[in-house]
Amino acid sequence: MSRKRVLSGIRPTGHPHLGNLVGAWDNWVAMQEEYETFYCVVDWHALTTDYADTNSVKDCTFEVAMDLLCAGIDPNRSTLFVQSHVPEHSELHLILSMVVPLPWLERVPTYKEQIEQLAEKDLNTYGFLGYPLLQAADILVYKADVVPVGEDQKPHIELTREIARRFNHFYGPVFPEPQTKLTTSPKLPGTDGRKMSKSYDNAIRLSDDEETIRKKLKTMMTDPARKRRTDPGNPDLCPAFDLHKAFSTETTRAWAAEGCRTAGIGCIECKNALADHLMVRMGPFHDKREEFLANPERVWEILHEGARKARKVTRETMKDVRTALKLPVPEES
Ligand code: TRP
Ligand code: SF4
Repeated sequence: MSRKRVLSGIRPTGHPHLGNLVGAWDNWVAMQEEYETFYCVVDWHALTTDYADTNSVKDCTFEVAMDLLCAGIDPNRSTLFVQSHVPEHSELHLILSMVVPLPWLERVPTYKEQIEQLAEKDLNTYGFLGYPLLQAADILVYKADVVPVGEDQKPHIELTREIARRFNHFYGPVFPEPQTKLTTSPKLPGTDGRKMSKSYDNAIRLSDDEETIRKKLKTMMTDPARKRRTDPGNPDLCPAFDLHKAFSTETTRAWAAEGCRTAGIGCIECKNALADHLMVRMGPFHDKREEFLANPERVWEILHEGARKARKVTRETMKDVRTALKLPVPEES
């Protein structure tokens, strides 16, 4: 009985935050129970937008990998690796680039959006247009069955399916069509009430210590109608209460909601209780993080072992691909 295979990736840009943890990663961790899981830190994808300044890619790669391990990605159950350590991703990307019609890439919604949003960067490059194609190669080179991603990535997985179909049509059945598994996640606003994001400077980072977390929560936005301690509030309109939903117990949540509506408690009290619950979650996370920081070589070893395991799969896939294309077979394969 072989388990279905999962692949997902994360870009090493910026510092991971609570939104990553309760958004994507908790799902990734849970999937280890049921699936054969491959998780990839996609450093080449970071280059597509950050090619002009690559100084932070290596450190970010390390930090993301370490935080994934602290979050519960278990190297004995998952294959955790760095994309650029598995060159077959780029080999398949090249082959797929022969097959994919340009308009398929030009009409991917994130393409024009991102070029406009990141106007300070020149994204008029071959590599940026190919971003979703590289992602398709990441997935197909493992013949993955399931890809856990957020809503925004749905068009990329749909494109991957279309590319798989087109390839199979020309050369015979090599690739399964991967299914999207939307990662369910609670709404997680940042300190300013907008979605928590590294680009808004409103995030609680996974590296933030207890003091920093408490400080950030203190100034976090609350129900704007609750100006004074004696004003009753509405937890449904309070971003801090969304964090209660993600981290507090049922009992504390009920206490906070009731106290808020009746002005029985103040926001400071409410947020202190939230901070306590958040620390129940983050305390053990920080302890593991300290251990890895004291022994960074351990993280790199795990990644190198992951790349070895990953390449066992990707080499086989590339043999199938070369055979399907009737390319001359190289000596070592
Ligand atoms: N594009 C994805 C994101 O921005 C990251 C990614 C790269 C990915 N390759 C992948 C996700 C393969 C799933 C599968 O979040
Ligand atoms: Fe938000 Fe709590 Fe203040 Fe109510 S009491 S507004 S839920 S922080």
